Amino acid sequence: MTNPAPATDIRFPSPDGLPADYKDLLIRMLSIQSRIESEYMFAPDRTLIKPLALAPTAEDKAEYAAFWSDEVRHASYWMKLLADLGVNVDAGFMATPMPIYIFEMRDQAEDWLEYGLFSFFADRQGAYMGYEWVGCSYEPLARIAERVHQEEVGHAALGYRFIRRYLKREGDRGRDLLLKHLAKWYPAGLDMFDAAVIDRRAGGRGVFLDFFAAAVIDRCEEVAAAGVDIVAATTIDRRAVGRAAVADIFDAAAIDRRADGRAAGVDV
Ligand SMILES: [Fe+2]
Ligand SMILES: [Fe+2]
Repeated sequence: MTNPAPATDIRFPSPDGLPADYKDLLIRMLSIQSRIESEYMFAPDRTLIKPLALAPTAEDKAEYAAFWSDEVRHASYWMKLLADLGVNVDAGFMATPMPIYIFEMRDQAEDWLEYGLFSFFADRQGAYMGYEWVGCSYEPLARIAERVHQEEVGHAALGYRFIRRYLKREGDRGRDLLLKHLAKWYPAGLDMFDAAVIDRRAGGRGVFLDFFAAAVIDRCEEVAAAGVDIVAATTIDRRAVGRAAVADIFDAAAIDRRADGRAAGVDV
């Protein structure tokens, strides 16, 4: 992905003098991000110890530990940005409900493959969010955005590697387990994009979802080559889960992409 052109020439170098609406929106966005990623800093039992114990190989363990370290540092960024805006990320902050349920699904993971699926979907979405921040008008955020974006791209690729290694090692058993898990992880991944994104697509601005769909399809094709027909399996699963509206968006994006050739996008 190339860096996006700044949407506006307006720049805010510090928290001082921010318009009230802008500040409210900034705090809301950073709070969601901080609530999610501070789990890595404040709940190592769930976000480090448990997955490290499940990681089946030394390579998986080492890569997961490096991923966790990135996420703790990301959490420190959001804490500092929020502190400058008058919000403390403390026990009360962390007691608020998790804003996106896929992070609770991660904590309920029963095997290593689910950690791979989490990063495959959730960190991929994080990469797209980080991309949106590059060049943003709030300069303290813009200064770290490119690094966060690049690291989230790396995390999505990491999820893919976890899955690929698992399938290579476990054969049919791994394939069967992947198909079972996709019943919940695939719709949950798509569900990270809310109604506002879908509305934008209806208005002709669906680039966000197009990126997502194109990248997922690319990866599905690669995994399918390894003997797993993910697309067919999830077509059945998503009906069962009842995420038809989201699935339709996915289908529309896929059809657009086929009609237009390969969409300009990401290769995470
Ligand atoms: Fe992160
Ligand atoms: Fe991440």
